[in-house]
Amino acid sequence: MAILAVLHYPDPRLRHVANRVDEVTPQIQRLIDDMAETMYAAPGVGLAATQVGEPVRLFLADTADEGEPSDLRVFINPEIIRKGPAATGPEGCLSFPGVYEDVSRASTVTVRALDRDGKPFELEAEGLLAVAIQHEYDHLEGRLMIDYMGPLKKRLVHRKMLRHES
Ligand code: NI
Repeated sequence: MAILAVLHYPDPRLRHVANRVDEVTPQIQRLIDDMAETMYAAPGVGLAATQVGEPVRLFLADTADEGEPSDLRVFINPEIIRKGPAATGPEGCLSFPGVYEDVSRASTVTVRALDRDGKPFELEAEGLLAVAIQHEYDHLEGRLMIDYMGPLKKRLVHRKMLRHES
């Protein structure tokens, strides 16, 4: 396994719309393992393949509390098929170090995806996991947390990230 470089905003690759995974090959499984190691090292609660420069529809989430056993979930070709009522909460993103924003999301989601072995599953999620699923799904569409900010904060964060990159 290897720790991968996580792309930071405004890297244009973060805007790519990811392609469907045709087949869960050993290369995809290796990418999953490397992404998991990268996410835990960061540490983060979610990571999308787009964020490590791989434009494929795949993300991971682990929302287990600190001190709890890990609860790694793999979502390949995810589809959000149901959304519950909206709720607003703070979010961060490994592609925006040090940036937090209140984002309105569905408080519950039902997602359909393939697991690490290519087996289909359906999951009803709530709380932090529901938020992580929607945040990571956005990455696969090239959507970023800055897109949810008002014009003033957007400019502030944009400038902060440019300074951070140089
Ligand atoms: Ni993110």
